[in-house]
Amino acid sequence: MPYPYQITTPGAYQDAYQKSIDTPEKFWGEIAENFRWQKKWNEVLQWNFKEPRIEWFRGAKLNITENCLDRWVEKQPDTPAIIWEPNDPAEASRTLTYIELYEKVCQFAQVLRDNGAKRGDRICIYMPMVPELAIAILACARIGAIHSVVFGGFSSQSIADRIKDAQCNIVVTADGGFRGNKTIPLKEIVDDALATCPSVKKVIVLTRTGIPVSMMKDRDIWWEDEIEKIEKKGINEFEPEIMDAEDMLFILYTSGSTGKPKGVVHTCAGYMVWTHYTFVNVFQYQPGDIHFCTADIGWITGHSYIVYGPLSAGATSLMFEGVPTWPDAGRFWDIVNKHKVNILYTAPTAIRSLMGFGTKPIEGKNLQSIKVLGTVGEPINEEAWHWYDEYIGKKKCPIVDTWWQTETGGILISNLAGVTKSKPTYATLPLPGVQPVLVDEKGNIIEGNGVSGNLCIRFPWPGMLRTTYGDHERCRTTYFSTYENLYFTGDGCLRDEEGKYRITGRVDDVLNVSGHRIGTAELENAINMHTGVVESAIVGYPHDIKGQGIYAFVIFNAIHTDENHTRQDINQTVTKIIGAIAKPDKIQFVSGLPKTRSGKIMRRILRKIAEGELQNLGDTTTLLDPLVVDEIISNRL
Ligand code: WTA
Repeated sequence: MPYPYQITTPGAYQDAYQKSIDTPEKFWGEIAENFRWQKKWNEVLQWNFKEPRIEWFRGAKLNITENCLDRWVEKQPDTPAIIWEPNDPAEASRTLTYIELYEKVCQFAQVLRDNGAKRGDRICIYMPMVPELAIAILACARIGAIHSVVFGGFSSQSIADRIKDAQCNIVVTADGGFRGNKTIPLKEIVDDALATCPSVKKVIVLTRTGIPVSMMKDRDIWWEDEIEKIEKKGINEFEPEIMDAEDMLFILYTSGSTGKPKGVVHTCAGYMVWTHYTFVNVFQYQPGDIHFCTADIGWITGHSYIVYGPLSAGATSLMFEGVPTWPDAGRFWDIVNKHKVNILYTAPTAIRSLMGFGTKPIEGKNLQSIKVLGTVGEPINEEAWHWYDEYIGKKKCPIVDTWWQTETGGILISNLAGVTKSKPTYATLPLPGVQPVLVDEKGNIIEGNGVSGNLCIRFPWPGMLRTTYGDHERCRTTYFSTYENLYFTGDGCLRDEEGKYRITGRVDDVLNVSGHRIGTAELENAINMHTGVVESAIVGYPHDIKGQGIYAFVIFNAIHTDENHTRQDINQTVTKIIGAIAKPDKIQFVSGLPKTRSGKIMRRILRKIAEGELQNLGDTTTLLDPLVVDEIISNRL
């Protein structure tokens, strides 16, 4: 068996789970034996959730890229590591075998080194979904630099905030990127960001679109020119930097309930073991399978299940540059057919959006190769689950509903494809090592089945976050202080009579729009930057395709000649400050917001109004101005 720790029967799952609870150190120590280490650990686990301090495989030394590349180069150099499908189906796809990927990573590692990058430096990556993005990530890991990938849909302001927070000294980007019928001027966006980021000394620019860009002398260099220099020297190897188990591997920014996104930090060894173990078990990967995760590498799903999980398993990972609906809504199915995809991992939003096109785009497409389907990022509704099962899986493929977060590094709750049972809309069971608990408002643990509460985890797992970059206290208060000695996920959850888990959505001020996390405070801050806006309040409401839509209540003090024009202006502000993904779906102008006497906005009431639940608004008598509620209701959009 290629992966000796692969769980293949329900009984083996029970055994593994039990062992992971009874003797966690022994359990993870044995699994970790299957990786390549420069030096083994002295201790498997040290932890307390108070500070918090979490250390896995303490004292061990490794480089994650030796596990993702070198060991597979020795075993299967010609196995495809990355298959890349471009945005435009008329352009040729590319395949990089393990040896080819290895050489490219080593060469780019040399480029980084030659341009001043050192172990521990932070490097910002803002790129389209091309193989060079994975190459840049792995090259950072090779030299021991910490990558901070920023999703290509974020604005220059967002990039600048992230660069400053991490004090990055290098940016890797491209001239532009293709997404559907759009061309995104990535370099230009980076240039705007860098006007306020003196820490950045070098910008390495890949050619992707050929659009004109401005190159600043001594700072900006072309990827291709640098590689040419390396090739002339005949370099195609690079000695991996030997890292400590708990050295930082990467930072990934994510939105929370406070204004500023936080840099979630993952470290080398624990993250590697976790993404690998969950990849192999949840998807039941078999050598030769083609794994297609449709996420963007700018999000955690792409980090863990396009790059590190699959490559650490010697798998073939398919990377897609485009969008599901361009040139038409059959794009995913053409890709499945063309590359004979075996595992398809996507978001409920994509499924719901494709459902909207009916079954026509699927007709005549050969989906026979698919063995396993997966979903991630948000709760999946029954209808979408059954559509996925019937039309894509043809009722013969298990669907894994995988619940996890940027902070958890990899999947925590999910059925194992074809091994443990699925249940529509349920993530079902915790993976070995994961100890979920439900707590009530007061933090009391709710025992038994058929109950619901706030989802917490009471024991560390190797892939969990270690800190938030530059602000450990923020990590403690956000995740470890709400309930004593528990990691708080921010999600509400139900445990059914059989002990299976169903995630019901965020219970904090974070929205999940098309599977993207948007902090309401962050969005309100952005809207309030508009000169005419006095105050705003954001809530979510159910949206057929996006899962949640964004409803903005805005107090506007300037006279608007045309309300729709003002709405566009506000959207423009949001696009500039955060990015287009955070644009509100509805903007209602109000003269006041429902506030308590102490000045706190009663979001509960706004949420009900946005959801259209006008009958049962609850107690409004404590409001400063109860009449404002009537006004808001009568002008509801
Ligand atoms: C939500 C994405 C229901 C949840 C990997 C979580 C889900 C947030 C599921 C994390 C699922 C993710 N069912 N809800 N299978 N997967 N979520 O950090 O609210 O982008 O807290 O990580 O997405 O989003 P993030």
